Amino acid sequence: MPDPHATAAASKTDLLALKNAEALLGGGQVRIDAQHKKGKLTARERLDLLLDEGSFEEIGKFVMHRAKDFGLDKEYYLGDGVVTGYGTVNGRLVYVFSQDFTVFGGSLSETHAEKIVKIMDLAMKNGAPVIGLNDSGGARIQEGVVSLGGYADIFYKNTLASGVVPQLSAIMGPCAGGAVYSPAITDFILMVENTSYMFVTGPNVVKTVTHEEVTSEELGGASTHSTKSGVTHFSCANEVACIQHLKRLLSYMPQNCEETAPAQPYEAQGDESRPALNALIPENANQPYDIREVIEGIIDTDSFLEVHQNFAENIVVGFARLAGRSIGIVGNQPAILAGVLDINASTKAARFVRFCDAFNIPLLVLEDVPGFLPGTDQEWRGIITNGAKLLYAFCEATVPRITVITRKAYGGAYDVMNSKHIGADLNYAWPTAEIAVMGAKGAAEIIFKREIAAADDPAAKLQEKVDEYQSKFATPYRAAHRGFVDEVILPSQTRQKLIKAFKMLENKVDTMPRKKHGNIPL
Ligand code: HXC
Repeated sequence: MPDPHATAAASKTDLLALKNAEALLGGGQVRIDAQHKKGKLTARERLDLLLDEGSFEEIGKFVMHRAKDFGLDKEYYLGDGVVTGYGTVNGRLVYVFSQDFTVFGGSLSETHAEKIVKIMDLAMKNGAPVIGLNDSGGARIQEGVVSLGGYADIFYKNTLASGVVPQLSAIMGPCAGGAVYSPAITDFILMVENTSYMFVTGPNVVKTVTHEEVTSEELGGASTHSTKSGVTHFSCANEVACIQHLKRLLSYMPQNCEETAPAQPYEAQGDESRPALNALIPENANQPYDIREVIEGIIDTDSFLEVHQNFAENIVVGFARLAGRSIGIVGNQPAILAGVLDINASTKAARFVRFCDAFNIPLLVLEDVPGFLPGTDQEWRGIITNGAKLLYAFCEATVPRITVITRKAYGGAYDVMNSKHIGADLNYAWPTAEIAVMGAKGAAEIIFKREIAAADDPAAKLQEKVDEYQSKFATPYRAAHRGFVDEVILPSQTRQKLIKAFKMLENKVDTMPRKKHGNIPL
């Protein structure tokens, strides 16, 4: 198309200035105002919040689409609906793309996709994270299959980049249809409450096919995906909070798979003991407590960033710092479902473990698990395959790995939760630890079944046998005698032990057998 500015501009410099000004306006002031009216920021405003001041360098600012059908030969916008480039977050290089809803609803054209792929290529070659700010009506409808091809190109790059550089996706508007699969392949998704949604098919299609009446928010809003589906790792109150959260999340990660995460300055406090932890585990082993209190008692003050906070709450995962260094924590949560492992908890933790392993973030496991959740629902939905994911993820993790058994470590869950047998480097247990095949009552009922039935007072006999089993097995010492537990420690000593142990493991080198890739039970 003829350049609309070519005659208007007095000089070549003026022409550049005109084009720059036009690009900054995206789809125009009216659409920018409409975006603001919806409570949303523009693509460039979001980047301003994300990146260090003055650090953004744009790539592809004047790119235009190549479509001709349905009137597109008369409608062009410089940049074609996505702002791409690189900049820094707290001084660290990142590659970014930010979809511009004011241009064709941020929809993805052939050239829009090419711009995203270009920065992903640069990110992989130069070893820095990719951050995508998504706000898009999906495939550019007027372009047909060319747009679908563009999506596939991005999915392919997302997959190639997976495990090479961290990929973070913030959903700040619509993200529907096949478009959802790019964020889904990335490492973390953040969603903004009330202004973003993700679904494969929207409410209208749902109504036609299943006759369900559901709003966009109910079907695929931040609240739904942070509690019911687990699709999003974080639900943020607004866009500013979302971008602040992105920056904090990034601070725990290295730039790429060859590096370690940046450490924060840390001055040893001298006495690292935490006496309050000694009183945390209730006398009665069936009483709940909050594993987050254990976490807070061990890590550097206020350093815990919980992932998937409201999904599968029977397991807690997140990043923290220990003596300034980034670690990933996986902890059974006795306060919810007694900390049992179920399908959602297993997949949630497995994905987190794999991220940490891919990016050299040491793992700390806090174990208090009564076993796997029984029942037809879990069995029929595949607790076997899904539980195996967590087992597999731990088995193949080569980062430094330490377990602290705070209380229960029962049955298969004992093996799964980063036991020494599957490659943990060091395992500690608190004196309150109970490491056995099953709880004392269940065990006594099985192995002393006949004896109990034949007793004059079966209830008293059962209690006697429960006590016997309890005193023999519901302790950490059988495991410690075997070396399955390296040391039984007081809770108050945990922080200092872990600081020393992770320091000792700092240069750990471990590799998996040569293979094309493993076959995780998906
Ligand atoms: C081209 C689009 C567009 C699209 C929106 N626009 N989506 N243009 N292709 N996919 C344009 C609109 O024409 C409009 O242009 C502007 O963007 C804003 O759209 P509105 O509808 O006015 O905004 P709003 O009311 O906020 O609604 C947003 C929306 C809606 C919910 C996203 O636009 C919508 O439903 N769009 C279509 C979504 C869709 O079906 N996409 C394809 C999904 S399938 P003007 O000129 O008025 O500003 C898919 C397959 C991917 O994506 C497969 C990958 C494998």
